[in-house]
Amino acid sequence: MSILRIRTFVLLTSLFFLFITENRAQFTTYKTGTLLIDTEGDPVNAHGAGMLYHKGKYYLYGEIKKGTTWLVPDQSWECYRVPASGISVYSSEDLVKWKNEGIALAPTSGNPSSDLDTGNVLERPKVLYNSNTKKFVMWLHIDSKTYSYARAGVAISDSPTGPFTYLSSMRPNGNMARDLTVFQDEDQKAYLFYASEDNKTMQICLLSEDYLSPTTRYKRILIDQHREAPAVFKHQNRYYLITSGTTGWSPNKASYAVADSIFDNWVIKGNPCKGKHADLTFFSQSTFVLTVIGKQNTYLFLADRWDKTNLANSTYVWLPLKMKGQEPVIRWRKRWHIPDN
Ligand code: DGJ
Repeated sequence: MSILRIRTFVLLTSLFFLFITENRAQFTTYKTGTLLIDTEGDPVNAHGAGMLYHKGKYYLYGEIKKGTTWLVPDQSWECYRVPASGISVYSSEDLVKWKNEGIALAPTSGNPSSDLDTGNVLERPKVLYNSNTKKFVMWLHIDSKTYSYARAGVAISDSPTGPFTYLSSMRPNGNMARDLTVFQDEDQKAYLFYASEDNKTMQICLLSEDYLSPTTRYKRILIDQHREAPAVFKHQNRYYLITSGTTGWSPNKASYAVADSIFDNWVIKGNPCKGKHADLTFFSQSTFVLTVIGKQNTYLFLADRWDKTNLANSTYVWLPLKMKGQEPVIRWRKRWHIPDN
């Protein structure tokens, strides 16, 4: 082979491998703590998010954070706010390529007494599918701009991508509800987990069979522990609850608790995050733990890296959660291939 041919061969081979690597990087490498980019090339806007798996697709629901951040005056804490801009939904078959499916739950404007008014707070949406009613049910934290309303809101849709119709908000059994999540068990019973009692104590409430309202069956857990940002998952018949401390938008140390059944005693175990900056949850706050479908014991820890003075600039920390026996372990990874643990 002539020198020229060898050079051309080497050049073409290099270009081929560069193309493969770039494509792989573009589609499978997740850079932790950065923006997620959707299939249109735009930043994913889905904070305080939850995920639902339904008929071969994952759906990601989150708070749309946009507009100027402002500080609500006369508060004893850093009450930074952006206008409530509704709940977004994205879909993906592989957890990597996310398609923007639009606004799942739209806000309203000009009527401050409406729960969904842009002047209020719409946070931490979580969606379940009820196979009996064939409806998608969204639960979310509804609040006033000073966070004194402290209620759980519920909305319903025929489709995972919405639009969701807002039904109402409530304080379950008369108790405050702020940061919340839902958990659907294998027997199809569903539960609402929420920071209650002025964020001092968490509560778990069994939802009605149609998932649309709280029942009277509830339990106080993590009493006086001041925890929020709940994320629940089940591993080998045990229930795990990861929470954050209550330091507003600033990161703090996560902790997990374990129970053998939902209404059993939840035993506090410690921080699932390990390594450098583990005490600040790698500068983020929990929002959801996804059980990856079709892969054994593969979990994805979803957290928000809030930019409190520019909330629209907040990013995401998605990390593999590994079970070491009965202990969940989350370690920092700068770049990794979702969902390969
Ligand atoms: C912490 C909560 O986890 C967030 O969802 C949000 O409500 C902020 N507090 C507000 O400071």
